[in-house]
Amino acid sequence: MLLSRAAGLLLLPVAVAETCRLYIAKSHFYRDDNPKFGLFAGVDFQQNETLPNPEIGIPLVDIAVGNYVDQDKFELYNAIIQFLEGKVWMSSFAGMQWEGNHTTTLFSPGVATIANHHSGYYNIDWFQPGVLLRERQDGVVEEGKASPGRGAFTNYYNLTMRAAQNIPAGMELFANLGDVFDDDREDLYQDRITRLDYNEAEDILAKIATFMNKYEKEMKGSFQQDVLDFILDTMVEEVGGKRGKVLRSLLPQTPAKVRKAIEAGGAFMYRNQDLVKSIEWLETHGLCVDYLRSGTSTIPHAGRGAFASRSFKEGDVIAPMPMIPILAEDILDMFMITEYTNEDGQVGLTYDRERPIGQQLLLNYAFGHAESSLLMVPTSPMVNLINHAPYPNARILWSSHDHVGFDHGIHDIDFREWNMAEVDPQLVFLLIADRDIQEGEEIFIDYGPSWENAWQEHLIRFDEYLDISGDVWPRRSEDARVEFKNKPYPTDIKRKQIPYPPSSFTACFLETDTVADGEPKDNAEGQEIFQWIGPNSYEDFEGQSLMVCDLQSTQGDETSGYTYTVLTRFKGSPDIVEVKGVPHSAIILLEKPYMSDMHTFGAFRHWIEIPDEMFPQAWRDLRP
Ligand SMILES: *[C@@H]1O[C@H](CO)[C@@H](O)[C@H](O)[C@H]1NC(C)=O
Ligand SMILES: *[C@@H]1O[C@H](CO)[C@@H](O)[C@H](O)[C@H]1NC(C)=O
Ligand SMILES: *[C@@H]1O[C@H](CO)[C@@H](O)[C@H](O)[C@H]1NC(C)=O
Repeated sequence: MLLSRAAGLLLLPVAVAETCRLYIAKSHFYRDDNPKFGLFAGVDFQQNETLPNPEIGIPLVDIAVGNYVDQDKFELYNAIIQFLEGKVWMSSFAGMQWEGNHTTTLFSPGVATIANHHSGYYNIDWFQPGVLLRERQDGVVEEGKASPGRGAFTNYYNLTMRAAQNIPAGMELFANLGDVFDDDREDLYQDRITRLDYNEAEDILAKIATFMNKYEKEMKGSFQQDVLDFILDTMVEEVGGKRGKVLRSLLPQTPAKVRKAIEAGGAFMYRNQDLVKSIEWLETHGLCVDYLRSGTSTIPHAGRGAFASRSFKEGDVIAPMPMIPILAEDILDMFMITEYTNEDGQVGLTYDRERPIGQQLLLNYAFGHAESSLLMVPTSPMVNLINHAPYPNARILWSSHDHVGFDHGIHDIDFREWNMAEVDPQLVFLLIADRDIQEGEEIFIDYGPSWENAWQEHLIRFDEYLDISGDVWPRRSEDARVEFKNKPYPTDIKRKQIPYPPSSFTACFLETDTVADGEPKDNAEGQEIFQWIGPNSYEDFEGQSLMVCDLQSTQGDETSGYTYTVLTRFKGSPDIVEVKGVPHSAIILLEKPYMSDMHTFGAFRHWIEIPDEMFPQAWRDLRP
């Protein structure tokens, strides 16, 4: 038996590379008035297993518009920001909160952006250590060396999602955006019911099921239904207060349905039973978004690149590319921000339009056209890594795959008439193989003549820079992270030469407790002392516990491991406190605001050109 089974396995076709782990297809929550696609698992994922395709993160620095753009643009800009904010994420979990003085948000294409948000449910979540503790990728940039690519691509990568529970193949994925997103999302999302309601409903359902099981024998005939009605009417609806009615509506109303709901995996799964599609359904009605892998580009100075994880025939779809529109290029400008106080004593922020400090890095990942102020950013996994080559092996086309719920009529409409608050335009490109492509080949498209010209000009300026600098580049926190990986951080930095790159500072992952009884509670400066207690394992590292810290002294040695006494300020508190016992592994170096490569003055910025023949006439608002 065993032998023949083993032999049978050997005969199976080797299809590993072609297994599609992620599909996009029409969402379970698709409505004709709110057409949307969703992201689906193509294979089983166990709870806590990381999802494929760790992504780059693109910081959006100081982008909040508030009340400081010209009045005539105010409404449009706010609508764009709100729309973008529905797609982007808080930055602290990626450790990028110090990129600017004010708000830095994070755009992370791929899984996190294309998976839908459901106010009552999620099955995927960030795995924060992936990006927080990321290691330098070989060959992307060289320590101490200048490159025309410095600052032209993001330093944040390895943004990883993981399964928050067991996910069967075929299930739609819903991302945890955090509870902040639950408040005012009613228009965009399908359900006014919040995650808290579902959690409570699941709890109540479990209790009802236990109760019914226990007394099943005693409760004859319709008595079971009477008891359930009593629980639902009195204990859930009346005692549940304002949310009582909602809670009741989430729960199964008959004893038989209670049993079925438990079998289905809970109240949410019971209400949404066709959340899990068959792989055949996904193959027919969806498109795979898992045929690209990240790696160091084969093109010098290009940073990372996207590589084929299977072979393609000429004309094959390599990936669908849903695009997020950004309606105005100047929203990506960056200016000095100054604070002001209004008549009511409130502090506001104002852009100093006299002092531009550059453009958002997102510009380099956006697609645009010289005759239009419209920009679009692709959202599918890995496609933002695709580089330019004059002899490309792939190109983009408009999608005609209407079975995924994409709306195409939008091309005829002037984009300035899109109401971003109401429509998610769902513009989709297809990435097509222009010739046969082997597994492992890097994918290239043609970025277009205006990009090529801008890059050539950039190379000339870079040569001038080299003449002055002699090919050196200031060391960065990443370089020092490698240096101090296994060697103690210097602590007496006041008297000695500063050993860290001048652009960097130390930050600590701190979970703390009060010191043990009998130990001093304050130091000589009168600062309160705390004891470090976590994070204790790789999985527990979170952006939330990352704080600026100054290293005061070192204890321990190579064998016992080094620990440090540090000074810090806990979030929201003005007081400096001391934390002792911070292990070496809980300390990292980061770049100070506006000091990382992407803020380099003169760093390359240009959008990728959409081929003229596919760019609609209605969108050419800048045509002379
Ligand atoms: C996943 O992680 C959570 C919290 O860290 C833990 O409680 C749970 O047991 C883990 N599940 C598996 C299957 O390892
Ligand atoms: C990316 O994250 C994974 C999972 O946390 C980790 O194992 C891997 O080492 C990380 N890769 C880099 C280059 O840091
Ligand atoms: C950031 O804040 C510092 C300190 O307040 C200030 O000196 C600097 O000009 C600010 N930079 C920008 C770009 O707003």
